[in-house]
Amino acid sequence: MTATVILGSQWGDEGKGKITDLYSENADVVVRYQGGNNAGHTIVVDGERFALSLIPSGVLYPQVTPVIGNGTVVDPAVLLREMDELTERGIDPSRVRVSGNAHVIMPYHRKMDAVLERYLGEQQIGTTKRGIGPCYMDKFSRFGIRMQDLFDPKIFRKKLEVALKDKNRQLTKVYNQLPLDLDEIYEEYLIYAARLDGHITDTSLLVWEAIHGGKNVLFEGAQGTLLDIDHGTYPFVTSSNPTAGGAVTGSGIGPRDLDRVIGVAKAYISRVGTGPFPTELLDETGDRMIEIGGEYGVVTGRRRRCGWLDAVALRYSARVNGLTEIAFTKLDILSHFDPIKIAVAYESGGTRYDEFPRQQSVLYHCTPIYEELEGWNVDITKATSFDNLPDAARRYVERVEELCGVRVSSVGVGPGREATLMRPDQ
Ligand code: GDP
Ligand code: IMO
Ligand code: MG
Repeated sequence: MTATVILGSQWGDEGKGKITDLYSENADVVVRYQGGNNAGHTIVVDGERFALSLIPSGVLYPQVTPVIGNGTVVDPAVLLREMDELTERGIDPSRVRVSGNAHVIMPYHRKMDAVLERYLGEQQIGTTKRGIGPCYMDKFSRFGIRMQDLFDPKIFRKKLEVALKDKNRQLTKVYNQLPLDLDEIYEEYLIYAARLDGHITDTSLLVWEAIHGGKNVLFEGAQGTLLDIDHGTYPFVTSSNPTAGGAVTGSGIGPRDLDRVIGVAKAYISRVGTGPFPTELLDETGDRMIEIGGEYGVVTGRRRRCGWLDAVALRYSARVNGLTEIAFTKLDILSHFDPIKIAVAYESGGTRYDEFPRQQSVLYHCTPIYEELEGWNVDITKATSFDNLPDAARRYVERVEELCGVRVSSVGVGPGREATLMRPDQ
């Protein structure tokens, strides 16, 4: 009866997978609306760990129809592998539905991702090298191949010929690489298509019927607001719209169909790859945050950069997404820190910035203005309700609410499904 977006409000890895899984208990449909297998979502159920990159986190519940929407980019080999892995662990992936309009990641996209990063040298973005950016490039330059194309061999071959001619020219003439073979790719992708037949459908209609049939629908964002191609720290971003608007275009519904927008925010911040990060801690405190928080990438295994919570960025995220609430995760990690800092504004060249600066160069050179809060120094991983948390922990959460103007509706105290303290509407 509600349509809820769950999205990242920082630079990704906020714990979206865990929160989506939690809300999926009462969901009928869970839709991924952007990104591809650059995402890495970890869910822990009864101590068992699931790492998903493309299939929506709701798949672990048998009543959920997991949907991969038109706004995503799909690497069919990865999708099939993920389905096989779920089957091996006793979860039925036959329910997964994929939009015929979703774009297909091709071998030349992965190759271009790697050579473009090499070309950028010191300016490189630090992408996941999964071909995400080049696939979206083809989508917008109208060279793209969509899932539906794979089911018409004649059309597929024609489109592949055009796209590959262009890519091989670039690969050989500009980047000094060997060309890719048309027949090899063609045969490989027809095999994927045969296996995916039955999963491809009009997901826009499926989602619309679910919403208007009184079902609970979740929209699961990947990446985060500050990695958004329009609203993030461009060019150090991903190539899609993780923000709430992306849920609308990326799944083919209207904005009036949405009821709630939950921003997942970690109690501190992490970032993978390059780009500005005002509250980054390049000291022993930062190292401890990475180790205690287990901040290593699910997809690439890279060490994540970490720093104090940035309330300026979170307020920005609340605005551009129209957040109705915040799911606050990993509060338990901050039990090991005292005092705890929150950036409430930035300072640069004698100017104070209370709002996220419109000129990105400010983000590189600014100094965060911190507010210090008292730590609580006790283990909170066994806490069973928000009211039973130490006073200092509650004060930290309440201060975040004040600074962002958005209610914190849940607090995470551990990676497990059960380690989330819900705060019902007062
Ligand atoms: P996502 O990409 O936003 O889904 O997040 P990731 O799965 O990449 O990273 C979040 C990590 O934090 C995962 O390892 C989760 O299991 C873990 N996690 C999520 N919520 C909590 C929490 O409240 N406490 C702790 N300690 N770990 C959490
Ligand atoms: P989840 O869903 C954190 C980052 C990459 C790089 C930039 C562009 O797990 O939160 P791309 O391969 O998308 O072209 O890389 O975006 N990035 C992520 N960082 N979490 C993610 O996903 C990310 N997906 C991409 O590190 O800086
Ligand atoms: Mg992740």
